[in-house]
Amino acid sequence: MNEIDPHKITIMHYQANSESFWEGTKDHDVNQNYAALQTRLPRSGDVRILDFGCGPGRDLKHFLNRGYIPTGLDGCESFCEMAREYSDCEVLHQDFRELDLPESHFDGIFANASLFHIPKSQFKEVLLQLNTALKEEGILFCSNPRGDGEYFDGSRYGNYMEYLEYEKFFKAAGYEIIDHYYRPQGWPREEQRWLAIVAKKL
Ligand SMILES: C[S@@+](CC[C@H](N)C(=O)[O-])C[C@H]1O[C@@H](n2cnc3c(N)ncnc32)[C@H](O)[C@@H]1O
Repeated sequence: MNEIDPHKITIMHYQANSESFWEGTKDHDVNQNYAALQTRLPRSGDVRILDFGCGPGRDLKHFLNRGYIPTGLDGCESFCEMAREYSDCEVLHQDFRELDLPESHFDGIFANASLFHIPKSQFKEVLLQLNTALKEEGILFCSNPRGDGEYFDGSRYGNYMEYLEYEKFFKAAGYEIIDHYYRPQGWPREEQRWLAIVAKKL
């Protein structure tokens, strides 16, 4: 009997729903998250950003329009194609669990709503690989739905953690957390399902 791989099924879910995902997310306001990364990046020169789990390319286009050199990465083939077409950026088709990234290459990594798809058992290893891909003092931004535990609902896998658990992983993988906040802005904490973290490579 074939064993079910929840991570492959997660990618297949995005593949099967790529157009509706784009329609549902292309106008999301993530300005607070852009600012959390951009204000910590070098102000001049060639500044490279890896959009990790870029989806159909909304944020690649944003970064390109602001003068950065963004590269996308996603495991879903149709998102890679959509992101290339929409943003005209380079987009790497890679699974988070089998990364092949250049060393000391990126000034920043923008991981919007993507790290929670990494299995907890591989989370530290992936953070280490992203650390290696960052330049000295490079910045990793991530935003994830928070919670407690790993869940697979039949179509998507998620690893939901609260701040203290993230902090342990980031410390163990060679980062210092320099900021964190909850979203949506201004809502009561129990209704703020999203946790954003800004971490610096040590
Ligand atoms: C919730 S979407 C976020 C997309 C985009 N960053 C945004 O903010 O709209 C999660 C993204 O992670 C990608 N993804 C999920 N599991 C993956 C895996 N194992 N390897 C590579 N990409 C994966 C999906 O294809 C999808 O683009």
